[in-house]
Amino acid sequence: MTEQPTEISATATAEGAEAPKKLFIKTYGCQMNVYDSERMAEALGAKGYVTTEVAEEADMVLLNTCHIREKAAEKVYSDLGRLRPLKQAKPDLKIGVAGCVAQAEGEEILKRMPLVDLVVGPQSYHRLPEMVEAKGKVVDTDFPEEDKFDHLPQRKALRGPTAFLTVQEGCDKFCAFCVVPYTRGAEVSRPAARLLAEARDLVSRGVREITLLGQNVNGYHGAGEGGTWGLGRLLREMAAIDGLDRLRYTTSHPNDMDDDLIAAHAEVPQLMPYLHLPVQSGSDRILKAMNRKHTAEQYLRLIERIRAARPDILLSSDFIVGFPGETDTDFEATMDLIRAVGFGAAFSFKYSARPGTPAAEKPELPAEVSDARLQALQALITEQQRAAQMAMVGREVGVLYEKPGRLPGQMVGKSDHLHAVHVTDSLGKPGQLVRVRITGSAPNSLAGEPLRD
Ligand code: 5AD
Ligand code: SF4
Repeated sequence: MTEQPTEISATATAEGAEAPKKLFIKTYGCQMNVYDSERMAEALGAKGYVTTEVAEEADMVLLNTCHIREKAAEKVYSDLGRLRPLKQAKPDLKIGVAGCVAQAEGEEILKRMPLVDLVVGPQSYHRLPEMVEAKGKVVDTDFPEEDKFDHLPQRKALRGPTAFLTVQEGCDKFCAFCVVPYTRGAEVSRPAARLLAEARDLVSRGVREITLLGQNVNGYHGAGEGGTWGLGRLLREMAAIDGLDRLRYTTSHPNDMDDDLIAAHAEVPQLMPYLHLPVQSGSDRILKAMNRKHTAEQYLRLIERIRAARPDILLSSDFIVGFPGETDTDFEATMDLIRAVGFGAAFSFKYSARPGTPAAEKPELPAEVSDARLQALQALITEQQRAAQMAMVGREVGVLYEKPGRLPGQMVGKSDHLHAVHVTDSLGKPGQLVRVRITGSAPNSLAGEPLRD
């Protein structure tokens, strides 16, 4: 869900190659892409590529793109333009475009940007090793039947004690504004046994927290022992893995929060008290136009049930402002819903018309109207986020240390509620799960002290 492009620094080792070739990957958009970039680095590692953080020294540059909003998609083209001098200086440099822009635009990318050598959609990453060896330009945006994860090599690069695990891909919901059902295709769930094996492997290599990923993760319905498993069952079985201390999942649709999943929040101690449950709008009229298939009231009732199961749960959401036809009254309904729920965090976006989606046919609102609404909504969310953080001060929470902080003797990690916490702890090491007393709150993080016997 991060909006910030991230450059990955996973180190894939060359196997049997002479001089390692260097791979630079830039990741845009969501956590699924962060995960996919790591897997692509590993797949190309088998072909002798090692990753670099310096684009200028790369033999291959791969942009793992996001198509969800226009700005994200256009950024890819401006970044490609900036690669031109590099390609001119180094004609052998391979430039690849992966991810959802690749899926949505396919060959068009080659027409618009002739410097691109390969275009690969999210379902074809296992074919990357062959694709890089091909002469000339290659485009692969098929939706093959087979599970791409079967063909990707076992994970090597682990980044600390937390890991993502993709359990489901694609989305069947067809929200009127969203390109995901077109770029990522229909929902496909990976079989439970494979996921459990992958989770065990991660834990055996030091992972203590796993976040299950999927575009519509709580729609998970994978083949498991005795039939089809929902996400609740999968979480319960994962929680039984020795040494796996924490579980999370993202991103969910309200209509797929079934009873078993809600009960898991009460019954599975490893399932952390934080839930990202996008509602997008608080106006029934707009929710209907968005094809969300639930009302504001139904969302509020659902939140009540989730809070009954796990009273201390922190909720976050996504919001879109300025959806076609949104009036001041509709927007006020969204603000009312936010006040009624009290979110710990949220992502909010100005509506962006995406070609091929039903909403793109409708007239857009003036930019000033959307800008003002976004500002008002973000101010309210910031207020709620601060209040949720302040409420933590004085409390004891678990913090999983991820890395040393900037100050000497400081560790940084995430609390159970997914707050970043800076802990003064000269004995701390990454991977430790420590009880911490929260002593202070800064704009985007908390401060704390370890509670040691
Ligand atoms: N315009 C603005 N925001 C969008 N999102 C998805 N599509 C669009 C769009 N066309 C937002 C939704 C979604 C999040 C990942 O991105 O809020 O939950
Ligand atoms: Fe897009 Fe999420 Fe709606 Fe699916 S549920 S169409 S991914 S916004």
